[in-house]
Amino acid sequence: MKGIILAGGLGSRLSPLTRITNKHLLPVYNQPMIYYPIQTLINAGIDDIMIVTGGNSAGDFLKLLGNGKHFGLKHLNYTYQEGEGGIADALSLVEHFADESPICVVLGDNLIEKNIRAAADDYRAQGKGAKILLKKVPDPQRFGVPELDGDKVLRIVEKPAEPSSDYAVIGVYFYDHTVFDVIKTLKPSDRGELEITDVNNHYINRGEMTWGELDGWWTDAGTFESLLLASNLVAKTGANNTDG
Ligand code: G1P
Repeated sequence: MKGIILAGGLGSRLSPLTRITNKHLLPVYNQPMIYYPIQTLINAGIDDIMIVTGGNSAGDFLKLLGNGKHFGLKHLNYTYQEGEGGIADALSLVEHFADESPICVVLGDNLIEKNIRAAADDYRAQGKGAKILLKKVPDPQRFGVPELDGDKVLRIVEKPAEPSSDYAVIGVYFYDHTVFDVIKTLKPSDRGELEITDVNNHYINRGEMTWGELDGWWTDAGTFESLLLASNLVAKTGANNTDG
């Protein structure tokens, strides 16, 4: 399985911190934000990694990460997303890199306390379709929210005013190679982006979506409140802990 980290966008919710640099280069406690999703993939046994960047300071990723020596990697791949086309648009850039392999996609501003190894192993065994991870949150209206019927996901709604569950769809997704055909059928949403939620709903409609519940804390770091929360959580427990 190959790993993709989506680290583009203008980070406008964090302006002026992001006026001259990329959101994913900002500090979360004692490390640049981008370190966390890289470690998430490595802990899941994925070391063939593509970073999709964009917006400001794209060259600084190379300066900071090089070939990933800090993580024990021999090589890292990079590509550049023009504009603000959304998560699914960024993902469309890696079709050639994926080369028919299954992929694990991690949003560059998503941090976790523990690891996704078991979920990655479950998806390897699943062999096709897609898998998402859910986490109970106090503010689901900020996220993609699943409508559940028992343990079946009926559909996902992006940032619903009235969420139908307390779960958020976290920014870690597993897809087979058909994801790139799905993206080609998408239309921009009201915020002018190709939505990952629309990709996920395609798999749900095909009956090829499974889900798991994430263990340990999860947060994004794309707003002032969540960036502060992320730093505090990392300071308290560390992130990407592999011992539990
Ligand atoms: C994105 C996704 C959303 C998901 C969230 C996780 O939201 O669209 O479904 O729950 O990431 O961080 P965005 O950060 O683009 O608002």
